Amino acid sequence: MRQKIVAGNWKMNKNFSEAEELLDAIAERLEQYKGDVQLIVCPPSVYLELASDYGEEYPLFVGAQNVSQFVKGAYTGEISAAMLTSMGVTHCIVGHSERRKYFGETDAMIAEKIKSLLSFELTPIYCCGETLEERNQNRHREVVAGQLSEALFHLTEEEMGEVIIAYEPVWAIGTGVNATPQQAQEMHDFIRRFILDKFGNEVANNLSILYGGSCNAQNAKELFSMPDVDGGLIGGASLTVEEFLAIRDSF
Ligand code: 13P
Repeated sequence: MRQKIVAGNWKMNKNFSEAEELLDAIAERLEQYKGDVQLIVCPPSVYLELASDYGEEYPLFVGAQNVSQFVKGAYTGEISAAMLTSMGVTHCIVGHSERRKYFGETDAMIAEKIKSLLSFELTPIYCCGETLEERNQNRHREVVAGQLSEALFHLTEEEMGEVIIAYEPVWAIGTGVNATPQQAQEMHDFIRRFILDKFGNEVANNLSILYGGSCNAQNAKELFSMPDVDGGLIGGASLTVEEFLAIRDSF
């Protein structure tokens, strides 16, 4: 069964007490929630332990924003998949365009990170998406196909069954210009077919494909009404409880 998911990528925002305040507010409102949308928060790594305390009490999943491609050892500043699992983290964003752009992450590194996450039973949320220039050159399908094959095609069918994909066109991230529901549907359909060709019907049908990029409480309903949009990976709009939960309630 394909899961509906709304995940909040807090990026590098909030101090400790602000993080606690937001988690408190989300948890309080989860008490009455009867719906079927899975909610995930991805705070900065220093707040993962705090967030996973909430995850133990409430139906709230906790994701990291990054993981090391190495298993353990002398890698100053890095956090391993084993460490994340041991703190109650269940998901991890990988391949975000900000990490590709500012931290030089390549598809090869991302492929290793995904392997590492899966070997510790963490669910990767794999981000892909084209730049504005690539879209203007009508290369968006080709670019996303390349990102998918390089980062995911080394997986087995069973492993791919554990992955969530987020389509995040770079031109829509933090710009206030979201992909139209039609543009999102076209790319999500493309992604699902591409995964189907490699991994088969069952994996493709069960795959949750999230949309990310200026998704907010105003546009989520239309985006989520598209048949291949299974939810959202939300940046700015995940930083306030009202907006984040209004997006969840847009299904
Ligand atoms: P915004 O929602 O702020 O555009 O960010 C999207 C994103 O990058 C989520 O990972």
